Amino acid sequence: MRPKILVTRIIPQIGLQILGEKYDLIINERDLPMTADEITARAADVVGILCLLTDRIDSTVMEASPGLVGIANYAVGYDNIDIAAATARGIPVSNTPGVLTDATAELAIALMFACARRVPEAERFVRSGAWRGWGPMQFLGADITGATLGIIGMGKIGQAVGRRGHGLGMRIVYHEEAPLAEAALGFEAHPLTLPELLSVSDFVSLHIPLTEKTRHLIGARELSSMKPTAFIINTSRGPVMDEAALADALANGVVAGAGLDVYEQEPAIGPELLRLDNCVLLPHIGSATISTRDRMARTAAENLTAMIQRTEIPNLVNPDYVNHRPKE
Ligand code: DGY
Repeated sequence: MRPKILVTRIIPQIGLQILGEKYDLIINERDLPMTADEITARAADVVGILCLLTDRIDSTVMEASPGLVGIANYAVGYDNIDIAAATARGIPVSNTPGVLTDATAELAIALMFACARRVPEAERFVRSGAWRGWGPMQFLGADITGATLGIIGMGKIGQAVGRRGHGLGMRIVYHEEAPLAEAALGFEAHPLTLPELLSVSDFVSLHIPLTEKTRHLIGARELSSMKPTAFIINTSRGPVMDEAALADALANGVVAGAGLDVYEQEPAIGPELLRLDNCVLLPHIGSATISTRDRMARTAAENLTAMIQRTEIPNLVNPDYVNHRPKE
């Protein structure tokens, strides 16, 4: 009998093909996340789990899966996995960095344009039949050329957004724990403290992972230190921003608008946000291009194969697992 792998949702064929060559796959065929109980039950006799950001993989799942030797997340963010619990059990965890950088950066830029030029609002207006022809005061928006783009988190995706913003004629400022050398970035960008960045930026774009340190990094106080003409874009993880505080800030003109691809309690979105016209809302599609999702599937499958075969793991996020790995 071949070893079994749990794949918690249908992913692009290439990933299933790579894994299917060596392993028996237990695949969730419904196009809906598995419940926690379903994951725990179906992980009982697997050697590997290929999971999604919508799956909570915690110690309950790990305890229920005594033969588990690896967890491959189909995402760059891995806040859905209890990394400490995996490390303590000697289980490696991987993610899919790099392959989704451009797609996610492009979506952040798309949200920036959508907010600044009120694209969804104007489109709704046309479809409603209310348009009576060109008007000098209709749908006036904000300029992108010459504006200041503040990037919080200058990792791969933050840099890709900065490069694009620079190409659009924006001034780039960023906040990162350790400022980067400009030569390494390849474009002009100024490191700032978080309060400085918030106060000077016309657009703020979030590119930080969700950790206990970054949860609600942007709340009422931070939003009120932004310009009332500024926009905030979030394509990272919903909980890095206090969504209720954002809804208040948008409703009261504290900031001009927001472009969101991620939410605190996905797929639920607060009714206040749903009512606001100065908020562009997308369904977590940052990495949703055909080729990006293919590359994510391939990467996750290769990561998991390496874990099971005990070869070098390409995108390991918890190298410390080796110190807890059971002896062979
Ligand atoms: C990620 O990879 O973390 C995105 O949120 C989904 O692709």
